[in-house]
Amino acid sequence: MDYNENTRALDNVNIEVMKGEWVSIMGASGSGKTTLLNIIGCLDTPTSGSVFTKGIKITDLDPKELTRFRRENMGFIFQQFHLVPYLTALENVMLAKYFLHGKGDHEEDARLALERVDMGHRLEHIPAHLSGGEQQRVAVARALANEPEIILADEPTGNLDQKNSWKILELLKSLHDEGHTILLITHEPDIGKMGNRTIRLVDGQVSSPEPLSSSIINENRGESNYE
Ligand SMILES: Nc1ncnc2c1ncn2[C@@H]1O[C@H](COP(=O)(O)OP(=O)(O)O)[C@@H](O)[C@H]1O
Ligand SMILES: [Mg+2]
Repeated sequence: MDYNENTRALDNVNIEVMKGEWVSIMGASGSGKTTLLNIIGCLDTPTSGSVFTKGIKITDLDPKELTRFRRENMGFIFQQFHLVPYLTALENVMLAKYFLHGKGDHEEDARLALERVDMGHRLEHIPAHLSGGEQQRVAVARALANEPEIILADEPTGNLDQKNSWKILELLKSLHDEGHTILLITHEPDIGKMGNRTIRLVDGQVSSPEPLSSSIINENRGESNYE
């Protein structure tokens, strides 16, 4: 895609991700990893090419439809957490439910999501009063609030120490075991290996693609396709 005459963040990328796969996305800084994830995650749209997710050509959706599709199907986890600073942990998670479902009683579901990530004892804390690891667990709860099928994580442990990184990765592993599709950007080879396969980007292009994991192909239909 072109951001301007000089930058082609992604070029001739043709990938397919199966339902239930965990795909690691790796590559040098500036190679297009975030752009790829944001396009799959409906946060960005390509200047050309198409993306199919769950059988829907999402590149044909208008912005409102795209936003709804994202809220129903995608859970995002970012390196910088991106929690709303003046809202409590509980309110941050409730907000995600509010954005999809509008007004209603979202407190119980939000509390359950926070208990799931072992944050049930910090419901009323604002982000500034939580450690980085705790903030990222709240962000995972927020990503799970609407029970999305697909989890997109952009260097989710990039700002965490080893112990807190491991907690987040364990959560992702249990989500994958439950059947969620996971796309995770990482610089760490050890984290990359947790996926079923790795897509490597070099200057916006996929280098040496690995074959789709055969066990997953047998079980599932095509999930997403970007070209
Ligand atoms: N909003 C933007 N405007 C212009 N160029 C951008 C923008 N976002 C990213 N880029 C450029 O696109 C390329 C890929 O960036 P990005 O997807 O963020 O890479 P990565 O996540 O692998 O570090 C880089 O050359 C980057 O400078
Ligand atoms: Mg990036």
